Amino acid sequence: MSSTLIHKDFPVLFSEEQIHQRIAEIGKQIDADYAGKSVVLIGVLKGAAIFLSDLARAITVQCTFDFVAVSSYGKGQRTSGAVKLIKDLDQPIEGKHIIVVEDILDTGLTLNFLRSLFGQHRPASLRIAALLDKPSRRLEQIEADYVGFKIPNHFVIGYGMDYAERFRNVPDIRLMPPDYPELH
Ligand code: XMP
Ligand code: MG
Repeated sequence: MSSTLIHKDFPVLFSEEQIHQRIAEIGKQIDADYAGKSVVLIGVLKGAAIFLSDLARAITVQCTFDFVAVSSYGKGQRTSGAVKLIKDLDQPIEGKHIIVVEDILDTGLTLNFLRSLFGQHRPASLRIAALLDKPSRRLEQIEADYVGFKIPNHFVIGYGMDYAERFRNVPDIRLMPPDYPELH
């Protein structure tokens, strides 16, 4: 068994407290923006699962959940480029106020794909909440309406985010050492 799966030595980028404080602020902003309305939070599996569960509890406007899954980022730290829908929405979103909830806005390929896909369903409104934003990596022009933190171009893990499916349960957000061995 490999003894390299130790995240304790990875540098912390955002502590649990910083994350929860920022999510509380975003929650208040969403409450103000959607006062008197109800929203559908659409989480992008699997990375956004933990962010969505905390964000949902930070808002008081009525909300429902849905989830989609798109083609994976790959096992390592590199994207394949192509985006494919693996799991579709369960409920129709026509006429609904939707917020797409994502862990990271990176190249923009995923959210651009989802924005145009969901746009075809004619929701009443469509906004994007991304916990992290890596603007320097953008390939497609897209911005999130709610951003937790802007970060430099560094691969991160924890709080839902993974390296080869590991470390999603790490409660804070940490920098992945670039020389970390490839995992399968
Ligand atoms: P794009 O490039 O389509 O990417 O905007 C969004 C997806 O890429 C993944 N991603 C990361 N996952 N640490 C991760 O664990 C990272 O630093 C990272 N950067 C991008 C992520 O799954 C996101 O949904
Ligand atoms: Mg993801």
